Parts: sequence; structure tokens; C-alpha cells
Amino acid sequence: MNKRKLRNLEVSAIGMGCMGFSHGYGELPPEEDSIKMIQYAYEKGCDFFDTAEAYGPFKNEEILGKAVKGFRDKVIIATKFSPYLLAGQEKYADNKLTKAAIKGALEDSLKRLQTDYIDLYYEHRVPLNSNPEEVALWMGEFIKEGKIRAWGQSQSNVEQIRKAHAITPISAIQSEYSMMERMFEKDVIPLCKELNIGFVPFSPLASGFLSGKYSKDTKYYGDDVRRAITRFIPENVEKNQPLLDLLYHVAKTKNATPAQISLAWMLHKYDFLVPIPGMRKYERIDENLGAAGVILSESEFNKIEEELSKITLYGNRTDEDIQKMGHVRAQ
Ligand SMILES: NC(=O)c1ccc[n+]([C@@H]2O[C@H](COP(=O)([O-])OP(=O)(O)OC[C@H]3O[C@@H](n4cnc5c(N)ncnc54)[C@H](OP(=O)(O)O)[C@@H]3O)[C@@H](O)[C@H]2O)c1
Repeated sequence: MNKRKLRNLEVSAIGMGCMGFSHGYGELPPEEDSIKMIQYAYEKGCDFFDTAEAYGPFKNEEILGKAVKGFRDKVIIATKFSPYLLAGQEKYADNKLTKAAIKGALEDSLKRLQTDYIDLYYEHRVPLNSNPEEVALWMGEFIKEGKIRAWGQSQSNVEQIRKAHAITPISAIQSEYSMMERMFEKDVIPLCKELNIGFVPFSPLASGFLSGKYSKDTKYYGDDVRRAITRFIPENVEKNQPLLDLLYHVAKTKNATPAQISLAWMLHKYDFLVPIPGMRKYERIDENLGAAGVILSESEFNKIEEELSKITLYGNRTDEDIQKMGHVRAQ
């Protein structure tokens, strides 16, 4: 697969979001299957793997660590510390956003990932009442110590990015982005371009919606976040059909699938962007990674943009809605 730059990191053009192996999408595959799927993605050319201490919590990092143990130096591992207290972190109860607490979380992540450095370490959320500069300073220290190679933020705003980047340059912003959620196009993504920061869309397939394989009758169980994402309310699934019609139409002309077209569209749009779809079936790994080979011409891209601008979308994904599920952390 071709490579892309997230500032100082070089990664495959499409990464793998590992969250679903332990968190957020209902029934889990057995651990040995998850490990095999991560290894399969690597064999297929993917070298960028995304996890977080909050996924599981903690379990996801363990799975990824086991999966990449044999080729750790060939892959880019991105993980995240939570600004909020996770189960078992009570010793930081006074404040998770201290240097000691983040250092503790980092050391624990290193152990679970069976490595002595993390390539990309994100602040999973940047609370509005927190000080992004302080965290940036600590990240700079961790970089100097060789514990991390680069750092980033998730779902942060322009002001938080600017403040933090001025202290320790940020390599990547990871935030929600897909054909169904384009709010960051107006400010954060242009800022990333301006500051030479990579952009890593999470939920690039809008939690699978853009694959066209889910209908209004699909049922979601357990911790599946689609129970809380309003795009999946049956009436919104119906109302969002014009977007799938567009994707099916383009997919047919390109001998591709709707999921591939939606990934190819964002890859064409920004050359500093690397999506990380979540996928727990071999055929989906082939399909999604295969999107790197679906190249849109300028006129095909412009036509998609034009058609997209005519489509009204219904529903969204918010941390607040997901938090209402109670047992699932939104981040
Ligand atoms: N920073 C943050 O706050 C944040 C938030 C959410 C996610 N993330 C990260 O971003 C990654 C990606 O997010 P996401 O998992 O929501 O992304 P996504 O790829 O938009 O959605 C994943 C869902 O779509 C399904 N899917 C993927 N490809 C498919 C295909 N070709 N056909 C049919 N269904 C398909 C998956 O099914 P199966 O898995 O069942 O195969 C899964 O249910 C996560 O794994 C995580 O690492 C970060």
C-alpha cells in the first residue's frame, strides 16, 4: 500500500482502528481471532494501528501488543490516554491531567503493548477547562525521553490545537470525519494543513453506515454505539438513503464498493489524511484496505462533491448520546 505522512511519521495510506476488538461494537471476536485479523491487515500492507487505554478498558492495547509483537519495529502504534479516570486508576482520583498521572498511564500502556516506545500518543479528549499547553509541555518531555515519538489530540478545537502546537508540535489530530460528518472541514482540517499536522479520521465509514450493508431493520446489541448514534434510528436510515444511492452509483462506475468510494473520496480530498476504519472480518479488511487502490480523477471527485452538497443528512454521533448508554465511554 502507498504511504502517507503524518508530519514526522510515515504510515500506510489506510490504518486499522482496533477499538472494535474489545469495545463499542457489540459482540467481540475471540482474542486469538482479533490477533489474527490484525496480523492479516499487516500482511496486506497496513502498518498503522490505532488503540487506546480506554478501549476495554486496557484490553485493546494488550491484544494489539500481542498481535504485533513479532514485527513491532515495522509498525506505527497509536494509542491514547484518557483525560478521565478509568477503572483501576483511582490513585489519580484528584486529577488525571497531571504529569504524574499521564506518565503512569503511559508506562502502563507501554507494558500492555509490550514495547518501550509509542509512535503516536494522543490526548483522547481535551476538556474545555483544561490547559492544552501544560499537556503539550509534558508530551515534549516524553518525546525527549524517547517514550513517545509524536503526539496528538482527539476531537480538539482550533484554539486548543494552536495553543498546544506552539509548545510541542502536534503530529496528528484524530477526530470524527466521514461523508456523514464534515464539521471539521471548516476549521480544524484547514488548520492541520496550515500547521503541517496530519489528520486521522475516526469512524470514517460513519460506523459502517457508508458500507451500505446495514438497513433500517438491523438490530444492535450490548455496548454497540450504534444504539446511541442517531444516524441509525430507522427513520434516519431511510432518510439518508440518497447518500447510499450516490455511493452505489459511483461504486458501479469504478468497479468498487460504497465503503471504498467513501474512503477514496477523503484520500483524494486531503493528502495529509489517513483514515482508520474498524473491521473485524477478513473480507472487510480486504475491502477497506483495497480503497487505497481506488483512485478518483479530479472530475469524478468534483462530481461527488457536487452531489454531496445537495444531500441533507439526518442524525449524528455525539459523546453525550453515547455516554447515556452508561457502560460505554464515548471517547
Ligand atoms: N478518538 C476517538 O474518540 C475515537 C472514537 C471512535 C473510534 N476511534 C478509533 O477509530 C477507529 C475507527 O472508528 P470506527 O470503528 O467507528 O470506524 P468505522 O469503520 O466507521 O466503523 C466501524 C464499523 O463499521 C463496520 N464496517 C467497517 N467496514 C465495513 C465494511 N467494509 N462493510 C461492512 N461493515 C463495515 C465494522 O464492522 P465489524 O467491525 O463488525 O467488521 C464496525 O461495526 C476505531 O477502531 C478506534 O480505533 C476513535
